[in-house]
Amino acid sequence: MKSLVVYYSLTGKTKLVAQVIAEALNATLVQIEERRPIRFPFVYLSGSFAAFTNRGRKINPLDVDLKQYERIFIGSPTWAYRPAPAVNSFIYQTNFEGRSVIPFFTMGGDDSEKALANITAKIERSQGKVAGSFAITSYKVSDEEIIARAKEAIKKYSS
Ligand SMILES: Cc1cc2nc3c(=O)[nH]c(=O)nc-3n(C[C@H](O)[C@H](O)[C@H](O)COP(=O)(O)O)c2cc1C
Repeated sequence: MKSLVVYYSLTGKTKLVAQVIAEALNATLVQIEERRPIRFPFVYLSGSFAAFTNRGRKINPLDVDLKQYERIFIGSPTWAYRPAPAVNSFIYQTNFEGRSVIPFFTMGGDDSEKALANITAKIERSQGKVAGSFAITSYKVSDEEIIARAKEAIKKYSS
């Protein structure tokens, strides 16, 4: 199955997981970038507020033809227990019809239920079929451990 990994990452944790998935599944890796990123420390307040209100933010066009892929992994940090606004934008502007979509999060805490429910509803509104999901806690966790957890989480998607 031809897979694509699309992700947004502010501080590099979601990027680590996305890289593991791409390598394990021989998938194409594409990063979502905000056109005008919010700077620290403002991102904590305005980024969280935008996420809390399910807003998008302007993102750079993605250089990828989604139609070529049967399975799309979408990675996001958890902001205000929701996807980051840049990821919302990607989902809002994409029609996932006929594609399996697997959202994944990295997060400071370990309660991923709300974020996964939120992103699932958005993907379904964009015609995608959610075929799995996972979340990895990053707070006080070494990069090596995040990579190990990502390898474990991706095992069931490897066939
Ligand atoms: C604006 C902002 C809001 C956040 N909100 C949450 C949250 O609600 N729950 C949580 O568990 N972690 C929260 N975090 C922590 C991030 O989800 C976590 O550090 C994540 O792994 C960062 O991913 P990244 O390095 O790919 O950006 C927040 C971080 C930022 C910057």
